[in-house]
Amino acid sequence: MGLKNENVLIVDDDINILELIYRHLQSFNYHSYKAVSVKEALAILKDSRIDLLITDLKMPDVDGMQLINYVSEHYPKLPKLVVTGYPSVDDALNVLKSGAIDYLVKPFTKEELRQAVMKSFAENEQLLASPIAQTNSKSGGNEQYGELIGRSKAIKRVTSIIDRVKDNKATVLINGESGTGKELVARSVHYMGKFSRAPFIAVNCGAIPESLLEAELFGYAKGAFTGAQEQRSGLFQAADKGTLFLDEVGNASPAVQSKLLRALQEKEVIKVGSQKTEKIDLRVIAATNSDLLSMVQKGLFREDLYYRLTVVEINVPPLRERKEDLVLLVNKFLTKYGLEYKDRVVSITADALDLLMRYNWPGNIRELENVIQRSVIMCDKQIGLENLPDNLKVKINFSDDRLLPLREIEKQYILKVLEATGNNKSRAAEILQIDRKTLRQKIQ
Ligand SMILES: Nc1ncnc2c1ncn2[C@@H]1O[C@H](COP(=O)(O)OP(=O)(O)OP(=O)(O)O)[C@@H](O)[C@H]1O
Ligand SMILES: [Mg+2]
Repeated sequence: MGLKNENVLIVDDDINILELIYRHLQSFNYHSYKAVSVKEALAILKDSRIDLLITDLKMPDVDGMQLINYVSEHYPKLPKLVVTGYPSVDDALNVLKSGAIDYLVKPFTKEELRQAVMKSFAENEQLLASPIAQTNSKSGGNEQYGELIGRSKAIKRVTSIIDRVKDNKATVLINGESGTGKELVARSVHYMGKFSRAPFIAVNCGAIPESLLEAELFGYAKGAFTGAQEQRSGLFQAADKGTLFLDEVGNASPAVQSKLLRALQEKEVIKVGSQKTEKIDLRVIAATNSDLLSMVQKGLFREDLYYRLTVVEINVPPLRERKEDLVLLVNKFLTKYGLEYKDRVVSITADALDLLMRYNWPGNIRELENVIQRSVIMCDKQIGLENLPDNLKVKINFSDDRLLPLREIEKQYILKVLEATGNNKSRAAEILQIDRKTLRQKIQ
C-alpha cells in the first residue's frame, strides 16, 4: 500500500497518538502531515493535496466533528477516518455509524489502523468509479446531489433525470406528495446546470389570488387596472435566461392556464391590459402534488397545457418508499440542528431510530425534519424514544386492514412496553412475563 504516493492528514491534539499514527503510516509508505488542532488542519488542507483525513473527535478548541462537516462540504471526495478515544461517547459514534465515515476506536493496533486506512481508500475508489460520481462532479459522494440527499434507487432515478435536463431548457413537471422535496428538485435542476447564474424564481400558483397571479406572472400595462400607474414586467421576464418555478400549478385558474399555454407554446407573453407580445427565453418547471392527469380527465386542467408541461416528468417518491434515505436524512438533520441548538452533533438511540424507520411519514421529509428539530431541542445528548412525538408511537390497531405477521406485532408491542417503561428492561420483562435474557435476545 501507499505506492500511489497518497498524502494523509492526521489531526489529533494528543501528540503521542499523532506521532504513533504518523510512524505507522510511514511504515505503510504514506506521506503524512500532522496537525494538533482543527485550525492547523485547515491551513494544511488549503495548501496541500490531501487524499485521506484521519482525525480525532474530541479536541479542545474546535472539535473534530466540525472539521468533518467542513470537509464534507468543501472536499466532498476526501475520505475520512475518525480515530476516537471515547468509545463511551456514543453520540458521536452513532452519527458516524449511520453516515459514510469510517472510524477506529483507541487504543488500536498497527494492523487495525492499516485495515482501516485501506478500507477508507478502497471505498473512495469505488465511489469515484461509480457512474453517478462521474456524471456528477459537483457533489462528489454518491449520497448527495447538490442539496439532495439520498442513496435509494428511487432518488437515483430522480437525480439521473436531473442530469439529463439541467443543461437544456426542456419544461419539467415535478410530481410528488407534500414535503417530498419537489422544490428542492426544481432548485437542483436550476443550480446544478449551466444556467445557474441566471435567476431562479419561484411562484406559488395556489397562494396568490387569480387576478394578482396574472399580473405577477405576465406583468401589466399602465392603466391596466386601478393602481397600475406604471407598466411593470412580470416574473416570466424577471426569470429571463433562468428558471421560473410554478409551484402548485394545478391551482392555476382557467384564465391563467390559457396564458401559460400561450407562453410555453409561442415563447411570448402579453402584459395584462396590453396587446403587445414580448419574447421570453427561460425554462419553466412546474410542480404539483395533485394528480394532474385526473384533473385533466375531470376537465379541471387543460389537456394541451398538461402536455406542454410534461415534456419531462420527475416523480419524487414519498419517504416511506425510500427508507434507505431516512438514515442519511436523520443524520443530516441531527448535525444541522445539533450544531444550531446544542453546539454539537446530537445522536439518536437505536430504539428511536427504529421507530422513525417504521413510521410511514405522511408529511415526508418536511415532517421528518420537523420531528428531528423538535427532538433535538427536547433531548439532552441523545434523542431517545421519550423525546419523539407521541403520534409516531406504535399503535396496534386491530381494525387496521393490513394483516401483520405475529413477529411484527410482537416487535411493536415490545417497543411499546419499553417505551412505556422508559426503556427499563427489568420492568419491561416483568410486564411481558419473560425473563430479561429473552427480552434482550428479542431486542437484538
Ligand atoms: N432529498 C432531500 N435531501 C435533503 N433535504 C431534503 C430532501 N428532500 C426534501 N428535503 C427538505 O425537506 C423540506 C421539504 O422539501 P420541499 O419544500 O422541496 O418539498 P415540497 O415537495 O416542495 O413540499 P410541498 O408539496 O409541501 O410544497 C425542505 O426543507 C427540503 O430542504
Ligand atoms: Mg413545495
